[in-house]
Amino acid sequence: MIEFYQVTKRYPGGQLGLDDVSLQIPKGELVFLTGPSGAGKTTFLKLIYREEMASEGYILVNGRNVSNLPERKVPYLRRTIGVVFQSFRLIPRKTVFENVSYLPRVLGLDAKQQRKVAYDTLRRVGLAHRMNAFPMQLSGGEQQRVAIARALINRPDILLADEPTGNLDPELSEEILRLFLEINLEGTTVIFATHDRGLIRRVGRRVLTLEDAKLRRDEHLPGEMVPPAPRRRSEPEAPPDASPEMESAGLSEPVDADPIGAGA
Ligand SMILES: Nc1ncnc2c1ncn2[C@@H]1O[C@H](COP(=O)(O)OP(=O)(O)O)[C@@H](O)[C@H]1O
Ligand SMILES: [Mg+2]
Repeated sequence: MIEFYQVTKRYPGGQLGLDDVSLQIPKGELVFLTGPSGAGKTTFLKLIYREEMASEGYILVNGRNVSNLPERKVPYLRRTIGVVFQSFRLIPRKTVFENVSYLPRVLGLDAKQQRKVAYDTLRRVGLAHRMNAFPMQLSGGEQQRVAIARALINRPDILLADEPTGNLDPELSEEILRLFLEINLEGTTVIFATHDRGLIRRVGRRVLTLEDAKLRRDEHLPGEMVPPAPRRRSEPEAPPDASPEMESAGLSEPVDADPIGAGA
């Protein structure tokens, strides 16, 4: 559950990022967040994962007030939230597997468990067969799937997506949208920010419209698209025996990006 109570965000310099917004998003819901560029979509998401702090009002995430959360507790909050961005923010010199597997290490799993979690998560987004590729060898849609796997690795309750299809053509956008629908069907709360009204019309659901930092509309739209069928999985059920590639898969190198991939 995500709750906003009269939340205002004023940036240094006085610019309003969000103006007196109140709403609730129940656990397990998929919500679209839309509005023109500069409307406050990114600000809305940043306030939830505490990349920014509210100037007024307060925000509860799973009952916890994140507006006044001490800095040292922010990492705990972020373990429950995955974030996906328009620019995939993958580490170019690491493989697909390494890009997703540096996270479980943070949680103190042993190497074998890490491999299993990373592999299972890549299977979930349909990319296990590409785990030894580098980001630049993948299509934009595949790169975004890797970024989604990375966001899912800690099994977050909440998945935030900031224009995740902004760099993708319409066909790939719909594919990525379907993946978010599947993830939502598995119980994860999803907030999907996009200015692409056409994409939203495909699936319908609850749509929050921001304009000039204000919540202008909060409505339920019917969708055109049939719900996603369970995806065909071609990968084997269990992770393969550790190959040399997997053994070396980023398990001994230092973490060189912020753990939730949510830095500036
Ligand atoms: N770091 C910042 N400093 C000052 N103003 C900002 C900052 N980030 C966003 N803003 C302003 O806040 C408003 C909302 O921005 P943003 O949340 O990025 O909107 P959107 O994601 O919908 O394009 C805009 O007017 C923008 O210029
Ligand atoms: Mg934005």
